[in-house]
Amino acid sequence: MKQSISLADVLGEISVLVRPHFGKGKPAHYIPQLAAVDPRKFGMAVVTVRGEEYVTGDADEPFSAQSITKLFSLGLALNRIGDEVWTRVGKEPSGTPFNYLSQLEHEQGVPRNPFINPGALAVTDILLDVVAEPAKLVRDFMGMLATEPLTIDDEVAGGEIATAHKNRAIANLMREFGTIQHDPETVIDAYCRQCAITLTCRQLARAALPLAAGGFSPVVEETVFPQRLARRLNALLLTCGIYDSVGSFAYRVGLPAKSGVGGGIVAIVPGQAAVAVWSPELDRFGTSVVGAYALEHFSQLTNCSVL
Ligand code: DON
Repeated sequence: MKQSISLADVLGEISVLVRPHFGKGKPAHYIPQLAAVDPRKFGMAVVTVRGEEYVTGDADEPFSAQSITKLFSLGLALNRIGDEVWTRVGKEPSGTPFNYLSQLEHEQGVPRNPFINPGALAVTDILLDVVAEPAKLVRDFMGMLATEPLTIDDEVAGGEIATAHKNRAIANLMREFGTIQHDPETVIDAYCRQCAITLTCRQLARAALPLAAGGFSPVVEETVFPQRLARRLNALLLTCGIYDSVGSFAYRVGLPAKSGVGGGIVAIVPGQAAVAVWSPELDRFGTSVVGAYALEHFSQLTNCSVL
């Protein structure tokens, strides 16, 4: 990142630059509790590999992590089970929305990648072989990395469990193909609870920092992923982390990143920092509009793109 400009100044500048972009998206409406969040929230946190933290706006306000948790469940599954994960899930961009059904039927029930909902449900199924409550495993892992305990929002989880008709269809189709082996309802329950993990931008940036530091967490002072796995997770983020708008996101921002319909995005600057943003209004791909602009400005102002 450019040294001539302080990160505190960069964040101050970004919080002004993003203002015109409020009102361009819409908060997630299909999970009832997410529709009720104030759409004008904006927070951003940068945690560097030296452990320095910079924040602006609502960076210490908790939000629903949603699909961002898929990065951590995948990391846990690869740490525990290794390459066997890839017998059930692919590593290719899907070119489809995150909750697309028919691609699965054409491709023998094997999800294209671990970040679309089918892939994340398969990862949950894999974790169910290891623990009874994968959502708590993911929550505790993320909390350990964030150095603060995290919670699962039971109302958000319950709201999604009650309305997860499409995800249920996906889970049932994969049960038919044998991609998932547990009861689809158990998988849905665990997956929705995982998505309902709540955290702040500051906590998220800390939790993702090992991906910027070769698998080592400078905050916890512990290696949590082998270096090679950190690199591979970044590769998956860069190619699959933003679903069917991953190409235009790479064009604009140039950093590996994962979005969630709670309005969060976490981006990795390899060797340097993890950056978390939150703003609830989404584009039609489920990515925070203001968050994506914030990251675009960040990579331009600091000249930190990996590309
Ligand atoms: O399964 C769902 O639809 C949500 N729990 C998570 C989707 C999500 O966050 C997509 N990312 N932008």
